[in-house]
Amino acid sequence: MRGRKNSIRKAEIGDRYDQFMGIWQGGWTMDCETVAVIGAGTMGSGIAQSIARAGMKVVLVDVGQQLVDKALGQIEARMNKEVEKGKMTAEEKGHVMKQIQGSVELENLKGADLVIEAAVEDLQTKADIFKSLNRLCSPAALFATNTSTLSVTLLGALSGRPDRFMGLHFFNPAHIMKLVEVVPGLTTSTEAVQVGVEFVKRLGKTPIVVQDCPGFVVNRILLPYVTEAFVAAGEGVSPTEIDDAVRKAGFPMGPLELSDMVGIDVSLHTFPILHDAYGDRFPVPPLPRKLCEAGRLGVKTKGGVYKDGKVDNEFRLLLQGLQSNQTATNVTFTAERLIVRQVNEAVYCLQEGIASAVDIDKAMVLGTGFPANKDGVGGPLHWADEKGLDHVLSMLEQYKELFGSRFWPHPLLKNYVHAGYVGRAAKRGFFTY
Ligand code: NAI
Repeated sequence: MRGRKNSIRKAEIGDRYDQFMGIWQGGWTMDCETVAVIGAGTMGSGIAQSIARAGMKVVLVDVGQQLVDKALGQIEARMNKEVEKGKMTAEEKGHVMKQIQGSVELENLKGADLVIEAAVEDLQTKADIFKSLNRLCSPAALFATNTSTLSVTLLGALSGRPDRFMGLHFFNPAHIMKLVEVVPGLTTSTEAVQVGVEFVKRLGKTPIVVQDCPGFVVNRILLPYVTEAFVAAGEGVSPTEIDDAVRKAGFPMGPLELSDMVGIDVSLHTFPILHDAYGDRFPVPPLPRKLCEAGRLGVKTKGGVYKDGKVDNEFRLLLQGLQSNQTATNVTFTAERLIVRQVNEAVYCLQEGIASAVDIDKAMVLGTGFPANKDGVGGPLHWADEKGLDHVLSMLEQYKELFGSRFWPHPLLKNYVHAGYVGRAAKRGFFTY
């Protein structure tokens, strides 16, 4: 690691905790030359590949040699395809592979400047890993977690080095997806965040700094929309009608197709966590549990909401059991029902200072494929500006009457409308035009 003082010396400004923003003003910066990735599963192997591809050395650690070998094999196979397509030469591939060292010993990452943990989503496992790392690694090394649902602040506190700890939340597939949410905990230093941001840029990816909250920005805004799709399906709206409507609205795929791809079990794990965090705005839809109980986890089990690309009888039977517990409505389904759930949650994030309006939208475009123009400008807040904030507010009010409080419009949205900031038509909404 190359550490250096920057022009603002810590002694000059002192140690100042800004409890509100969770920022410690110090004065150092560093470059990450050797990075370690803990956990060589779906995410760890993609993250390690991105790091090696960017020219850094990476140690990839898992609990068994077979797991490490499997990950190295997957990385090589992915790059073989790139060689076949002419996107890299065989020589370049060989060089990238040499940058990656597989290991089953945490000891082997002693010299790392940055350690990214991508082990299973379990608090105790992650806490144990960071405690061991804190003993092994240099005091200057930075720690990051790829957790999707756990508190970065809590993991930072458990790690023993909360000021040098952050979330680096990659998206799947990590070797392809450009977005990384950089998540400071309440006690993460400004400098650590800057190093995280620079590191992500060096990977050729887009860092978005997001305050620590359950779901961060992308999953927090995506989940209400996915939930609404499962609720609508539970009411008897056909999955193809839901997914077709959303695709017609410009999304690359529908929320139920997406859930099948990600894994219904993954959604099932996440719904209760966000419900615990935010309450009734994040209801837990019953359909995903039914699907998992029937062994329908999505693409990986060759059946989820869809089987062979179709809605089959088994799915219809699962629904029958559900519909008796749900209030079916006669309302015509439109994609707006799902999208206004994203907009409203985006307004919550905006009001709470989780990220700026620009960053919220950028994260949703890059992380979920929310429709955007050719310059990449789009996202739920831009969508609301185009539709008119008065229209969005009226949709939320109507859906609140029909479906309940999860559609309760955020007061900030009302204030925008009161002020006449109703979107592009008024030249001012969440953005100015
Ligand atoms: P995975 O199950 O594919 O891989 C986890 C790996 O961690 C396994 O190979 C396991 O053997 C290893 N592991 C478990 N305990 C370990 C230990 N003590 N030391 C070293 N390795 C250990 O899981 P996946 O999907 O790669 O997820 C990893 C993390 O990334 C989780 O925190 C998850 O929430 C997060 N994440 C997952 C995304 C996804 O789409 N799969 C997206 C973004 C974040």
